Amino acid sequence: MINDKKITIAIDGFSSSGKSTMARELARRIGYVYVDSGAMYRAVTLYALRHGMISADGIIDSGRLVDLLPQIRITFSDPDSSTGVSHTLLNGEDVEKEIRGMDVSNHVSPVSAIPEVRHRLTAIQQELGENKGIVMDGRDIGTTVFPDAEMKVFVNASPEVRAERRYKELIEKGIKADYHDVLANIKQRDDTDMNRKESPLRKSEDAHVLDNDNMTRDEQMQWLLNLYSSISRQNGKD
Ligand code: DC
Repeated sequence: MINDKKITIAIDGFSSSGKSTMARELARRIGYVYVDSGAMYRAVTLYALRHGMISADGIIDSGRLVDLLPQIRITFSDPDSSTGVSHTLLNGEDVEKEIRGMDVSNHVSPVSAIPEVRHRLTAIQQELGENKGIVMDGRDIGTTVFPDAEMKVFVNASPEVRAERRYKELIEKGIKADYHDVLANIKQRDDTDMNRKESPLRKSEDAHVLDNDNMTRDEQMQWLLNLYSSISRQNGKD
C-alpha cells in the first residue's frame, strides 16, 4: 500500500528527452502538482524579447533584465482536468503558445545562464514545492532546487533519438524542419546547458537514470510508477 505522505519528485534531463510529457502524466496519475521549470525560463526570455533587451544578434542587456526581474510575475493556470496541461502566465497573460516558438527557443539558453535569473526562479520554484506533493522537471531540480527530493530521476536519451522525436513532432505540427538542423540545435543546447557556470545540467549522484532510447511511453510510465511506489513505501516507514 502506498502511504499518503507526500514526497518531492525531481525529473531532470536533456532537452527533447520527453521528460515534460512524462512528468506531467506522472503528476496527473498520482494527484500531484506538476511544474515545468523550463517554461519559467522561457517566460523570462519572452519578457526580455518583448522589452527589447535582446538585440538582433542575440546580445542580452542582462543588467536591465536583472533590474526588471522583480516586475516579472510567472504563474500557472489550473491544469485541464483530462490532459493535466496548465498554461504559463506572464504577468497574468497566457503566453503558453508564444514561449514554445522558435524566437524564445533560440534565446532561452543564454538567458537561463544569467545567475540572477537562476536565483530568482530557483526561489520561486522552492516556494512552489514547499508543501511537497510536486513533480518538477528541468535541468537542475535534483541538484539545486530540491537537493533533498525523495525521488530524483535523470532522463537520458541519445541526441539522435531526441532529434528524431523532435523532428517528427515539428512535422506533425506542420512546421517545416530539417533533421540535421534539429540535431545540430539539440547538440548545441546540450553543450550550453552542460557547460554554463551556474547550476549546469548534471546528474545528481542519487538520481535514478531512465534511459529511454528504446522504451515506449507506457514502459516509461510503468518504470516511474514502480519507482514512485517503492520510494513512497520506504518513505512511509521513516
Ligand atoms: O525544458 P525546456 O527545453 O523548455 O527548457 C528551456 C531552457 O531553459 C533550456 O535551454 C534550459 C533552461 N532550463 C534551465 O536552465 N533550468 C531548468 N531547471 C529548466 C530549464
